[in-house]
Amino acid sequence: MRTKSIEQSIADTDEPEYKLNKTLTALDLTVFGVGVIIGAGIFTLTGRAASTLAGPAIVLSFVISAVACGLAALCYAEFASTVPVSGSAYTFSYASLGEIIAWIIGWDLLLELMLGASVVAQGWSTYAVVFLGNIGIPWPENLGPGGTVDVLAMLLVAVLATLVTIGIKESMRVNMVLVGVKLFVVLFVVFAGIGFINPANYTPFIPPSAPTSSDAAWYLQPLVQAVLGWEPSAYGIGGIFAGAALVFFAYIGFDVVATTAEEAKNPQRDLPIGIIASLVICTVLYAAVSLVITGMVKYDQIDSSAALATAFTKLGHPGYATLISAGAVAGLTTVVLTLMIGASRVVFAMSRDHLLPAPLSKVHPRFQTPYVITIIIGVIVMLVAGLTPIGKLEEMVNIGTLTAFILVSIGVIVLRKSRPDLPRAFKVPFVPVLPILSAAICFWLTLNLSIETWFRFVIWMAIGFAVYFLYGYKRSRLATGETLKQMSQNYDLEK
Ligand code: ALA
Repeated sequence: MRTKSIEQSIADTDEPEYKLNKTLTALDLTVFGVGVIIGAGIFTLTGRAASTLAGPAIVLSFVISAVACGLAALCYAEFASTVPVSGSAYTFSYASLGEIIAWIIGWDLLLELMLGASVVAQGWSTYAVVFLGNIGIPWPENLGPGGTVDVLAMLLVAVLATLVTIGIKESMRVNMVLVGVKLFVVLFVVFAGIGFINPANYTPFIPPSAPTSSDAAWYLQPLVQAVLGWEPSAYGIGGIFAGAALVFFAYIGFDVVATTAEEAKNPQRDLPIGIIASLVICTVLYAAVSLVITGMVKYDQIDSSAALATAFTKLGHPGYATLISAGAVAGLTTVVLTLMIGASRVVFAMSRDHLLPAPLSKVHPRFQTPYVITIIIGVIVMLVAGLTPIGKLEEMVNIGTLTAFILVSIGVIVLRKSRPDLPRAFKVPFVPVLPILSAAICFWLTLNLSIETWFRFVIWMAIGFAVYFLYGYKRSRLATGETLKQMSQNYDLEK
């Protein structure tokens, strides 16, 4: 239960060898946020959630998810403006809830960011193959998504990992252009699609609840249905919540903005702006896209993989579909990029605290980026994306993220009690009601994820505990009392 003082967290960032460049502005952070939020979620999950879970009411699922994220975003913003240190929720909780909770959150964030990057890289290659095919360059099936090795996904990750290693400002510039393309495509879907809406497709708006087929495996039903003994079913009110728990993936990423706190010029002001602005922009776009798509195509005929593009093909506009898949390729690129940056910053913070091996967090003398860890993460994401059939693991990413959100929300209340004196540039209104509500909604969403997902999550956490008790527990700098200065002196002596 030991906690790291906030003053210590901030002081650590001033050690020259571990110092990151402070260059990011509020606009950079917002672009960064939108860049990571809009991705595989809206481009692929909208179709799946609308056709199999919620029907046209998928727009309500998006709104419910947005409320959960908005509340959690306020908690994130308060924490980020109080503890402007790399590592996001991991660092916040180290300062408030204690080392073991911080470790759990860090471990959850790794699941979110690394697995998320791999999932989106595979989505990227799916769209890339469609796009290449449309412009007359067929890609060998064996070397694409679902083949033996997904070479395209691996290439993408390799290029992006190199960019991140060279420097975050450079990656931001690439990001800015790609985000522009992505926004254009999403707006294109909305405005081009409005004219094709057939109001009859909105009836029934909430399709009546229907039992899932009896040969569907029991572990695919939401945990809440099993716990409460409900008959496994899709659509209806339950479907809206199950849809919300799935499309939550589409919002993941605003929290990653908080992981760059140490690289922001004025974190106290700019972080809350970056987090909240990017979330609001995305919520409006998602609601618009889901209304348009379910209006264009009857929900049970919506394509469950590339809904945004195929809706136009179905209505006789394959040219639009090619444009949209090109935009998706650009759009998903920034998501993978940003998730990898986030993952490297979380590991950076954990290894600086010695919960993971310290040499991982060395900063490159010229590029000023944590290059060792960036390269390791790049290799892991590349292997997972290229060699494993993980296409459907979004739910696993969601459960990791939701758990982190729950702990962050509780952390705000705890830190208000334990350190009322700290300057908070941004404060959550109505504490403790609002953070409690945030934790409760996020918990409800986790219950709407499948039993299978819960099972996998428990295994992931068990591995995390094993690593902590076998490694971090004894070596943690809070346990040894070693400062960063002593540590680098020790290294010099050894040399
Ligand atoms: N929110 C991101 C996406 O939808 C992770 O791809």
